[in-house]
Amino acid sequence: MQIAGSSAIVVGGAGGLGEATVRRLHAAGAAVVVADLADDKGKALEEELGVRYVRTDATDEDEVRAAVAAAETLGPLRISVDAHGGPASGGRLIGRDGEPLDLAGFRQTIDIYLTGVFNVMRLAAAAMARQEPLDDDQGRGVVVNTASIAAYEGQIGQLPYAAAKGGVVGMTLVAARDLSPLGIRVVTIAPGTFLTPAYGKAGDQLEAYWGPQVPHPRRMGRSPEYAALVQHICENDYLNGEVIRLDGALRFPPK
Ligand SMILES: NC(=O)c1ccc[n+]([C@@H]2O[C@H](COP(=O)([O-])OP(=O)(O)OC[C@H]3O[C@@H](n4cnc5c(N)ncnc54)[C@H](O)[C@@H]3O)[C@@H](O)[C@H]2O)c1
Repeated sequence: MQIAGSSAIVVGGAGGLGEATVRRLHAAGAAVVVADLADDKGKALEEELGVRYVRTDATDEDEVRAAVAAAETLGPLRISVDAHGGPASGGRLIGRDGEPLDLAGFRQTIDIYLTGVFNVMRLAAAAMARQEPLDDDQGRGVVVNTASIAAYEGQIGQLPYAAAKGGVVGMTLVAARDLSPLGIRVVTIAPGTFLTPAYGKAGDQLEAYWGPQVPHPRRMGRSPEYAALVQHICENDYLNGEVIRLDGALRFPPK
């Protein structure tokens, strides 16, 4: 699918992986909506690139509807990328003190990392379904979600996050099947460890810790590498219903 001439929504577009994606899609000719909660960064991107920032909580129906509607005013919405983050609860299933893992924290993590992705996917796909098919394949658009290799190798203490990401993986094929009559593809990226602002000041320490554990290249991933894959997914019409690991062959150890 050709990117130029389409509008795109990038949820979490003010974050590390999201911002790189916004830049890449913008450079490829898409009219981009940055849907995020980080007002300062979102507005800075708006000013620098001429993209549109819409304050959006991925878990909120009305706010995602508004962001999607904003994208539709910029052009036919054919690309939805979800790379939002947020707080994730953690801890062992049974702590050293014998206490079971917190239920409210589990629910919150699922809400942000799984329900939010579902919410964005369904509302963006509904807008894509209203577009004219673009090509001989009757393609209308593409949804790109972000899981994690923790979906497959969740580490000790990561149960709620791993469960949410496993849910994103599980939604991928069935969503692709559901949306196939509409010509909408669904692909999920499962990153390994990427150096992004999510890690704040701990970034250098994490690079020193994770870098040597990645078989090749021996470093954490860089956001433009994620964004390059998003672009390829958009442009390669035969990629559908698949989860692509982007991890330098890293497999998370138990801890
Ligand atoms: N960085 C990594 O190593 C890594 C690895 C695997 C998976 N991932 C996944 O990639 C995604 C992005 O990660 P990142 O490293 O770019 O994180 P990040 O913290 O740099 O960016 C996340 C963005 O999401 C926004 N956000 C938070 N809550 C939101 C909400 N409810 N609605 C909309 N936006 C919201 C934040 O404001 C921020 O701009 C996350 O889902 C994360 O789990 C990241």
